[in-house]
Amino acid sequence: YYRHAHSQVLKGKRFIVTAGGTQEPIDPVRFISNRSSGKMGYALAKAARLLGAEVTLITTKPKLAPKGLKVVPVATTEQLQAAIEARYQQADAVVMAAAPADFRIATPAQQKIKKVAGEDELKLTLVKNPDILATLGKKKQGQFLAGFAAETQDLEVNAQKKLQHKHLDLIIANQVGQPEGGFDSDQNAGKMIFKDGTVQPIALMSKEQMAMVIMTAISERL
Ligand code: CTP
Ligand code: CA
Repeated sequence: YYRHAHSQVLKGKRFIVTAGGTQEPIDPVRFISNRSSGKMGYALAKAARLLGAEVTLITTKPKLAPKGLKVVPVATTEQLQAAIEARYQQADAVVMAAAPADFRIATPAQQKIKKVAGEDELKLTLVKNPDILATLGKKKQGQFLAGFAAETQDLEVNAQKKLQHKHLDLIIANQVGQPEGGFDSDQNAGKMIFKDGTVQPIALMSKEQMAMVIMTAISERL
């Protein structure tokens, strides 16, 4: 991807791109997270920049983020939400490739949890996190909202439901648990489903190429 090879179709547009699985603390040394690597989000942030956008990348894995982007580090779903909301009014588009934990520990321990002799069970109480995209969808003022739907079954039906429930303009559906593509892979495949019902399949390709396909499609709708 050479800069000269791309037209600046996103010039003047402000993008918020999120990446990585959020981390919910259990105690000062432990957290709950998920398998999201952040790679798709980084590729999307890079693609938007190559197309001329002003990009803020909000990520749980800032050390792995590509150079030359404005990076905002976060850990938890609530921190991710706050970081997006602080920039939402000024944004033209939000692309949520991050995998926010749906639940957090109700009361994280202030000190490291120690094993107790004779106690073979540890119970953790989880409470629901806010649905960031659904909240953004409710107060949308012209921003283009894109999300991902990682599903293990009924891919298109589940993705459509999320598109509608969260008031999205685009959802990218991908099947998880397949040998090709997915979480830690450098490749991915899926389907773009737009608000107007248009479905555009994306063949198996590198996450870099897929990001270009997605950002180009968004540029045509901004
Ligand atoms: N998402 C979000 N806030 C959450 C959870 C998810 O904004 N608390 C976003 C994700 O970044 C993704 C989209 O919503 O772009 C769909 O995420 P997904 O986990 O597939 O869907 P959920 O709505 O969390 O539903 P479920 O996990 O129950 O399938
Ligand atoms: Ca979820």
